[in-house]
Amino acid sequence: MSETERELRYASWHKDAVIYQLHVKSFFDANGDGFGDFAGLTRKLDYLASLGVNTIWLLPFYPSPRRDDGYDVLDYESISPEFGTLDDFRRFVEAAHARNMHVITELVLNHTSDQHPWFQRARNAPAGSPERDFYVWSETDDKFAETRIIFVDSERSNWTWDPVANAYFWHRFYSHQPDLNYHNPAVIEAVLDIMRFWLDLGVDGFRLDAVPYLVERENTNNENLPETHRLLKHIRKTLEASYPGVILLAEANQWPDQARDYFGTGDECHMAFHFPLMPRIFTAVAMGNSQPIITMVQQTDGIPEECQWAIFLRNHDELTLEMVTEAERNFLWDTYASDERARLNLGIRRRLSPLMDQDRRRVELLHMLLFSLPGSPVLYYGDEIGMGDNVDLGDRDGVRTPMQWSSGKNAGFSGGDPKTLALPLLDNPRFGFQVINVAAQEKDPHSLLNWVRRILAIRSAHQAFARGAICFVSTENPAVIAYVREYKGECILCVANLSNIAQAAMLDLHQYSGSRPRELFGKTVFPAVGKHRYPIMFQPYGYFWFQLKP
Ligand code: BGC
Repeated sequence: MSETERELRYASWHKDAVIYQLHVKSFFDANGDGFGDFAGLTRKLDYLASLGVNTIWLLPFYPSPRRDDGYDVLDYESISPEFGTLDDFRRFVEAAHARNMHVITELVLNHTSDQHPWFQRARNAPAGSPERDFYVWSETDDKFAETRIIFVDSERSNWTWDPVANAYFWHRFYSHQPDLNYHNPAVIEAVLDIMRFWLDLGVDGFRLDAVPYLVERENTNNENLPETHRLLKHIRKTLEASYPGVILLAEANQWPDQARDYFGTGDECHMAFHFPLMPRIFTAVAMGNSQPIITMVQQTDGIPEECQWAIFLRNHDELTLEMVTEAERNFLWDTYASDERARLNLGIRRRLSPLMDQDRRRVELLHMLLFSLPGSPVLYYGDEIGMGDNVDLGDRDGVRTPMQWSSGKNAGFSGGDPKTLALPLLDNPRFGFQVINVAAQEKDPHSLLNWVRRILAIRSAHQAFARGAICFVSTENPAVIAYVREYKGECILCVANLSNIAQAAMLDLHQYSGSRPRELFGKTVFPAVGKHRYPIMFQPYGYFWFQLKP
């Protein structure tokens, strides 16, 4: 590829991205060892293309003791053997690119596994040496007292005593995940080298895991420090010089203003997960009230031109409720996790379909919002078929079970011995692979899978969804949300009833007076917008997308 071709291909691709997040280990096992692998994933690329996604985000696949499912890395420049070889990875990236798909990988840069050679070297090196200084040490465990604990269910302190080093080491997550010390320039260089390694293999971007916690400073809460932002800007500038088009996607689970800071002035991360919006979507649907969504979208609008939110409903972690008020958290816990086993840390470890009580109307409504609010949508594997979860598995494993391809042996996920599967299959009358699987839904034109394909095809035919401005429309009914997405003269009106009862609304569309709304699923043309408010009626959780034709 020539330099210009590369630049063209990559120009702001993240703004049109439809991201599919998956765990290689749980997706498809090609060699029958019970573990998903890159060869298997490559074989399923046509499925992903047919779904309508164009970007794949891979959860960690590096060698790891896997005490945090791979977020405890012990070698950043290779692949854990169960997933295959670097050649398999290369082939996967080529095959994805051949289908015009981009690949985003995990960069766990806040911490390593305590088994990582850097940590082993550090704990044995003399205090004050450059090797020791790869991590953050202290003689006492009362330093940085203002810093919160994230994994509240399992950790009591962010410090752990290391008898080898004779000192405490700092960790924001599990006590086997020591934090790297970004005050040490050698750490920054090492991380940049890791990034270059994967970019040379064809990777298009990185999800930067846990970025708010990179740099520590005394008398702060050690989150979102200016030093952390400077570091990210430095990483971006350095990489972009050699790899134009590379995308940095920030995992910053923060309040709105702090989350948007990760865009800088367009010189920091290209994308950031929309953590502020996610729980408010669930609140809005639980309350049957549009205000939580409207307030949050308005508060987080107007980000730098080249930046884009990554919006999501569910992911591989618990549905986090860290950045909501205590009252909101209790409300969401009561609504969606009355079964205490579903609660983990400050969140809910459930998949989308069970959260919605397997109510197809609500599942569609949530996807409709996901695909039409400003940002690039992120789909979590299995949610397109309404997969369930298993709260009896430890930690967050219950939402990471094998993809359900068919009702056959091992759900069509693996040809191997059922006892060797990476995680147990879901096997119950409501969510088991016998009833919820790709093969059955492929055959059913009305399945959730085929509906997701249809709505994604509609979305990709109108760039206003990916790139348009948003303007909320007054509805005279708090249960009804309405907004227009506009891009290059095309206007798309999105309306939905967030409540569980039928609703009518009167839309203020005076700006569009004279235009005829054309419904995008069935192409029916609705009565023209006149001078008065436009009446519209909905079934419970009903929604429409209209193109406003002048
Ligand atoms: C990841 C989690 C992981 C944690 C520690 C996160 O933010 O999404 O899955 O446990 O980082 O690495």
